[in-house]
Amino acid sequence: MTIIITGTSAGIGFALAEYFGKKGHRVFGLSRKNVESEFFTSIPTDITDHLQVEKAISEILKLETRIDILINNAGMGMVGPVEDSTQEEILKLFNLNLVGSVQTMSAVLPKMREQKFGKIINISSIGSEMGLPFRGFYSASKSALDKVTESIRYEVSPWNIEVCALHLGDIKTKIAENRVKSNVSGAYQKTFDKVYELMNSHVDDGTEPLEVAEYIEKLLNKNSWKAHYYFGKFGQKIGVPLKWILPQKIYENLMKKYNKIG
Ligand SMILES: NC(=O)c1ccc[n+]([C@@H]2O[C@H](COP(=O)([O-])OP(=O)(O)OC[C@H]3O[C@@H](n4cnc5c(N)ncnc54)[C@H](OP(=O)(O)O)[C@@H]3O)[C@@H](O)[C@H]2O)c1
Repeated sequence: MTIIITGTSAGIGFALAEYFGKKGHRVFGLSRKNVESEFFTSIPTDITDHLQVEKAISEILKLETRIDILINNAGMGMVGPVEDSTQEEILKLFNLNLVGSVQTMSAVLPKMREQKFGKIINISSIGSEMGLPFRGFYSASKSALDKVTESIRYEVSPWNIEVCALHLGDIKTKIAENRVKSNVSGAYQKTFDKVYELMNSHVDDGTEPLEVAEYIEKLLNKNSWKAHYYFGKFGQKIGVPLKWILPQKIYENLMKKYNKIG
């Protein structure tokens, strides 16, 4: 199969590209940094620039007759109090996590519609299902991508194209280093420091990226997809149904306890 993955210079994307390349698929990786790998072809691309994305896809289509799968993985985190976050920071985040992913879908869909087949995985987060403290815009950016995923599923279903959001829990990568970090004003500093330390420790203790690849491989073998899939530690996945089952106050108090707030 021909597989396009974004954000392949590091972390989950690199692990996915190597994993599927080793399995004999033809894998193309789109990230700004070039990476040398014997298992996939790297095409340096900034996915926030639609012209670069279109150029990358047309380069791939000179080599391949099909595009079977797109894994929209490139993304970044953002931390800081909502009150302190700037317009520039918020737009930078949404430009990558939402607009970048949408542009990549738009660039592969003409080929997928022509071949009447395609599978697109938008990498989301368990944190898109709830507003996480000091990660409000990260939750919101992934949540926005989830909603677009739900919408596009209806639109492309006549062409046998499947789209889903894969919500990940914490995965052990360098995502913490690459986050947009807002300045934290004095009023929030004490609470922020505690939450920040905790969120970084969760990433350090996170699941290995290779396990995401194994999960995605199983997903790709399914014929028909649901809109949402959840992968991560039980303690994180359980937060999703608890939000809807528990009375709101009890749920918020649990979240405060989990995040060491108050
Ligand atoms: N790690 C976690 O705990 C976790 C949890 C839930 C969801 N996720 C999601 O999983 C995805 C991958 O995260 P990760 O942990 O692997 O992060 P990471 O280690 O920071 O890797 C991010 C990747 O995205 C690429 N990227 C950033 N900006 C880009 C741009 N403008 N154009 C093209 N590529 C770009 C980076 O490459 P360049 O810098 O070379 O462009 C890099 O390859 C993200 O969408 C993230 O939100 C991660």
